[in-house]
Amino acid sequence: MTTKTFQIAVLAGDGIGPEVMAEARRVLAAIEAKFALTFSFTEARVGGIAIDVDGKALPEETIRVCEASDAILFGSVGGPKWESLPPNEQPERAALLPIRKHFGLFANLRPAVCFPQLTHASPVRADLVAGGFNILCVRELTGGLYFGQPKYSREENGDTIAVDTMVYKRSEIERIAHVAFKAAQGRDKRLTSVDKANVLENSVLWRRTMNELAKQYPDVQLSHLYVDNAAMQLIKNPKGFDVIVAENLFGDILSDEMAMITGSLGMLPSASLGLKETPLGRFGLFEPSGGTAPDIAGKGIANPIAQILSAAMMLRYSLGEPAAAAAIDAAVKVVIERGLRTGDIHSEGTQRVGTREMGEAIAAAI
Ligand code: IPM
Ligand code: MG
Repeated sequence: MTTKTFQIAVLAGDGIGPEVMAEARRVLAAIEAKFALTFSFTEARVGGIAIDVDGKALPEETIRVCEASDAILFGSVGGPKWESLPPNEQPERAALLPIRKHFGLFANLRPAVCFPQLTHASPVRADLVAGGFNILCVRELTGGLYFGQPKYSREENGDTIAVDTMVYKRSEIERIAHVAFKAAQGRDKRLTSVDKANVLENSVLWRRTMNELAKQYPDVQLSHLYVDNAAMQLIKNPKGFDVIVAENLFGDILSDEMAMITGSLGMLPSASLGLKETPLGRFGLFEPSGGTAPDIAGKGIANPIAQILSAAMMLRYSLGEPAAAAAIDAAVKVVIERGLRTGDIHSEGTQRVGTREMGEAIAAAI
C-alpha cells in the first residue's frame, strides 16, 4: 500500500496553543496508522512568542514554512504580556490579518455545533437549545472594512478624523457565495444571507449577487436577514438556522454570538480557505475558534477538542481525506457520549479529564 505524505505547517502560538496542538498531533498520528497517510510537520513561530524571539508576530520564516506546506494547522495567539503594545502590533491583529491577506484566505467556515449532551453549558434558555443545534457560519474574510482603502486617522481642521472603508467587488461576493451555497448543498440546503441592505450600498450589491447566484443552486433555499435581526433570531431560535453567509465584520460579530450560544468555545474549530485550489481541495488555515485562554495555559486542563476538530477540517477541506476527517469527528462524538469532559464542559455525573487524557481517549477511539 502506498502512503500519501502531507506537509503541514504547525503554528501553535501562545497560551494553551502548544498543549492543545500536541493533542491534535496525537490524534493525527492515530490517523496515520489507520489510513495509510503520513504527516510531515514543520513547526514555526507566530504571535506573542514570535514577537519575543523574532521581533514580529508573523516572521518571514513562518510565511516561508506555510508556503511550502499543504495546509496550516494554527493554535492561537495573544495574551496579557502583549496587550500593552499598540493595537496594530498586537499578536492577534499583526499575525492573523497579514496571514489571511498573504494567502488570500477569503472563506472562513465556523461551525457552531451544540452537542445534545452539552446544552447545559449554553447561556440560552434550556428549551430553546434542547437537543442541540448545528449552524455553519460562512464569513467573508479578506474584504470589507478590515482591508478596504483608504484607512487612516489624522488631524484635520482642529479635529481628529478616522476613516475605514467598506468595499466589496461583485467577484468577491460571488466567490464566497459559491462556498456558502455548496456548503448548504452538503447539509440541510437552507442558506441565510446576512446584510444591511436597508442602509449600505455594499449590502445592496451583496443581496443582489446572492439572489443571482441562487439560480445556479435551485436545490438550496435562500433567505435574507438584516444583520440586527439576525442577531436576535440567533438567540431566539438557533435551531432554525442551517448555513449563514455574511461579510467580514458582520460574520466576525455573529460568529462570536453563535459560538457563545453553543456554550462551549473549547469545542469549536474553524477553517479559513484560500484562493489556491489544488486537486485535493483549497489551501487553508485551520484553527480553534476560542482564544489562548491565558488563565488556564500550562495547567493541562484546556479542552483540546477544538484543535482536534480543526485537524479534521484540514483533512476534509485541504487534503481531500473526508474519511479520515469523519473518523476524527466520530471519535470526538464517542468520547463525549462516554462522558469524558474537560473542565469547561463538565457537569455532574460526567468524568472530568485533563487535556492529555482527552486527546488520548480521542486518539484511541479512531
Ligand atoms: C476573529 C478575531 C479577529 C477578527 C481579530 C483578532 C483580528 O476576532 O478571528 O474572529 O476580527 O477577525
Ligand atoms: Mg472575532
